[in-house]
Amino acid sequence: MGLADFITRLPKAELHLHIEGSLEPELMFELARRNHVALPFKSVEEVRAAYDFSNLQDFLDIYYAGADVLRTEEDFQDLALAYFRRAHADGVRHAEIFFDPQTHTDRGIPMQTAMDGLWAAMGEAGEELGVSSRLILCFLRHLDEAAALETLRQAEPWLDRITGVGLDSSEVGHPPSKFVRVFERAGAMGLKRVAHAGEEGPPDYVWQALDLLKVDRIDHGNRAMEDPALVRRLAEEGMTLTVCPLSNLKLCVVDDLARHPIPAMLDAGLKVTINSDDPAYFGGYVGENYRRLAEAAGVDRAALVEMARNSFTGSFLNEADKARRL
Ligand code: HPA
Ligand code: ZN
Repeated sequence: MGLADFITRLPKAELHLHIEGSLEPELMFELARRNHVALPFKSVEEVRAAYDFSNLQDFLDIYYAGADVLRTEEDFQDLALAYFRRAHADGVRHAEIFFDPQTHTDRGIPMQTAMDGLWAAMGEAGEELGVSSRLILCFLRHLDEAAALETLRQAEPWLDRITGVGLDSSEVGHPPSKFVRVFERAGAMGLKRVAHAGEEGPPDYVWQALDLLKVDRIDHGNRAMEDPALVRRLAEEGMTLTVCPLSNLKLCVVDDLARHPIPAMLDAGLKVTINSDDPAYFGGYVGENYRRLAEAAGVDRAALVEMARNSFTGSFLNEADKARRL
């Protein structure tokens, strides 16, 4: 069997996916038309040409601008359903999707709008595609602690729909320590905790995510490889890392997929998973991330299987559901 078919047939979970980052330019134009929103681009081609990033902030500026077309419950539902269909075609059986409520509430879109649209799509994904899913509410780390606490308070009516909280947006200068009380409160509410750490930020941010935020997973974690004591800690704890190869390439976290840290991470005994992060912006969904990494970095099929297994064992499914989906 060829590599592409092998990867598609490999049952996998996706654990690091920003739903707003799955907004394809075609849907962006359709929603702009539907909602009478003016876009700063004339064509889909012009949008794609603008996706040439030097770092995380370059990307975030355009990602938040794109999200402005999301106005109604139906918009969020269409967005998420389009993602689930693509993920399903790549062999994804389970997806834990991030959303950024502050990106929407700060422009007057009520929390309920995103929550109802995403929830409707999650229900359809389960029924029509057999793809299970969970929702993770991310706090924007460039905003302050009070805003994150207020967002957590606003989410209280939907705690039955939210599995966990995460931390995303501009990393450098916004350490995990800024959100200790937010994550404490989320933990006390029974929510799982994850945080982006070590994408652009130093290994110290990964230590902080572990020790101060008490995370259940680290999102990215690439720069942990600079600190041998941290690598040992992550390996000993069996901490899942949600790594995103094409994102790392597009945001210049790595200069060449052939030198991606995943092979070294696996050698060090880390529990690595492969994910797409923001697939509409970074050039590929999860299958493409597996394929491009395997081809460029010489990751063999046994290692791909190991990472696909890690995606289930590191998920927030209960043990019986993990076993059923493996
Ligand atoms: N890093 C940080 N914040 C984000 C990302 C990312 O890759 N994608 C969407 N928000
Ligand atoms: Zn991310």
